[in-house]
Amino acid sequence: MSANLEKIKIRIDELRSQIERHNRKYHEEDAPEITDAEFDNLKTELKKLEKKYPELDSPDSPTHKVGGAARRDFAKVQHSVRMISLDNAFSKDDMRDFENRAKRALKITEIPWSYFAEYKMDGLAVELVYQSGTLVKASTRGDGAVGEDITANLLALPSIPKKLKKSVSFEARGEIFIEIDDFEKLNKKRVAEDEPAFANPRNAAAGSLRQLDPKITASRPLKIFCYGLGLPMDCKAQTQSELLEFFNEQGLPINSSSHVCKNLDDFLKFYDQTVKKRDKLPYQIDGVVAKINEFKFQEKLGTTSNHPRWAVAFKFEAPMAVTTLENIEVQVGRTGTLTPVAVLAPVNVGGVTVSSASLHNEDEIARLDVRIGDVVEIIRSGDVIPKVIGVREAERKNKKLREFKMPELCPSCGSKVLKEEEMVGRRCPNTTHCPAQVEGRLIHFASKDALNMEGVGPQWIAQFIHKKWVNLPSDFFSLTAEQLLTLDRMGEKLAAKIIGAIQSSRTTTLGRAIYGLGIPHIGETLAHKISEHLEDLPAFLKISREDLLHIEDVGEIVVDSLISFRREYADEIKKLHRLLTLEKKKKVSGPWSGMNFVLTGTLEQMTRSQAEKKIEELGGTCQSSVTKSTSVLIVGEDAGSKLDKAKKLGIEIWDEKKLLSKI
Ligand code: IVH
Repeated sequence: MSANLEKIKIRIDELRSQIERHNRKYHEEDAPEITDAEFDNLKTELKKLEKKYPELDSPDSPTHKVGGAARRDFAKVQHSVRMISLDNAFSKDDMRDFENRAKRALKITEIPWSYFAEYKMDGLAVELVYQSGTLVKASTRGDGAVGEDITANLLALPSIPKKLKKSVSFEARGEIFIEIDDFEKLNKKRVAEDEPAFANPRNAAAGSLRQLDPKITASRPLKIFCYGLGLPMDCKAQTQSELLEFFNEQGLPINSSSHVCKNLDDFLKFYDQTVKKRDKLPYQIDGVVAKINEFKFQEKLGTTSNHPRWAVAFKFEAPMAVTTLENIEVQVGRTGTLTPVAVLAPVNVGGVTVSSASLHNEDEIARLDVRIGDVVEIIRSGDVIPKVIGVREAERKNKKLREFKMPELCPSCGSKVLKEEEMVGRRCPNTTHCPAQVEGRLIHFASKDALNMEGVGPQWIAQFIHKKWVNLPSDFFSLTAEQLLTLDRMGEKLAAKIIGAIQSSRTTTLGRAIYGLGIPHIGETLAHKISEHLEDLPAFLKISREDLLHIEDVGEIVVDSLISFRREYADEIKKLHRLLTLEKKKKVSGPWSGMNFVLTGTLEQMTRSQAEKKIEELGGTCQSSVTKSTSVLIVGEDAGSKLDKAKKLGIEIWDEKKLLSKI
């Protein structure tokens, strides 16, 4: 692989793991860290790179998957019909493209259909299964194929009909949401009871729904609007508007603002009207969905692996506010990257006060042509992190503006910063002693996906560093409750909890330990992949350059980074070896013991990780690439080069149906 391609690959891996992480944060943990728009930007960048470098595309890329994976705490429910998501449109042109694509797919010149316009509710999709008029099962979307069983929770909710008007069977789909007033009341109550407030109504709805105690769900003001079908069974509707009528007749709540539109122009008018009244609605919506109304055309158009070809969500622009950029500060991350951050005069954006926003890097500052003192436009699309999107140049007259230059010296340690060729960012090279990097690394080591020291967050870590108790990861394990008790706002209970969390984090896996080291260019996925080839940390110190290069996805840049890191931190890694107990994945014996499996392409009925889990439960081993030792290759849709290689080597090939029947 050329050095340039390797750099692209690293960026692609980085984007994939960021997208997976934010997907998890949003869908599974109800705690988004970035705005929807920023999330869309990450996905767009990844899609572009995968299109430009098809050799780096992969069927398990998040661009080919639907959404969150099922949470562990609930029983799983396999949906009879996959719950896919909607594709997005961001402009009227995108809407016209959508219509043209449908026209081309059906090889027609005139449009024979009407559109059904529905609000895109900002909540959580659920499926309700009614049998002979009784609610028998309710589930979340999960990853689209398998969701969580939330029947008990929905049975406890007064707003969900348990019995229909008639003894009919069908699977209804809809959105669970919380109205804005109810959300504000709920948050006030939570704050008064010293519980963390929900970030927005969507997260409040998701958090309320996924309660293991149905009584808690029942006490939350959750509502539902139904808008779709799984298996139709007794439902004879032929159009989307008939479907909503049917739901209504059966007593299921529907959104009465929905509207039949003669054609696309009619839909666009409805969209414009909705934009105007959006702020006055009692609930949050983030767009208007256009659905081709007649089911016969929906069926003809079908779906891609992720989206229907007969519907699209025309998203709203994010709420915007205007304020003054008072300063630009530079933050130093754990790998030394310098990030400029806009310091803003506090301003309300879509209901939240914003006083800072990331400017990403100097290219972004140049692109925006933003100067200190400028009046800038800020967006915050429903969620957390705000973004500067533009400058009001007309307001520059008679203003003293200051151009911003990235510092030549690291603001944390004063070292001369490096600007690597072809890289947009700047980096502080003082890896070992730069206080900002030390702090970033320690926060990373303790974080959820690394050692997972619950309750050991950035505020506490900053204090531990200030007291000079910790400098390297291994120092965490020498902290004592007595020490902690000398800190402000620390009680005996909390000190015991923190020490307990630190000590129990010592039993971990090699993958988490390697990831926790925070080696530049080695993200979570790669750390776990590398760990599969190693016994323990001493082996990590010894593994040769050649052996590293044999590991899938490991190239020269990663190896250079790993080798220089382990050279510098060899003593610390040895110390961690003495302190940590590394658990091995337990090998299960079963009918497939001794058999090696490789998966390729997209599976329909289950996700790749579910398939791998199933194989391992039966004693099989999953490999990442086809070799002579592979026993079976499992192929999904769009299988790539692995299939060719398996054919060449004469390896047994199963499709998904065969895998399921064998399971
Ligand atoms: S239809 C095959 N209609 O948006 C079409 N979805 O990105 C499936 N949503 O998972 C969805 N309002 O959570 C549909 N009126 C509406 C909707 C809606 C909100 C959500 C739903 C879905 C996501 C799709």
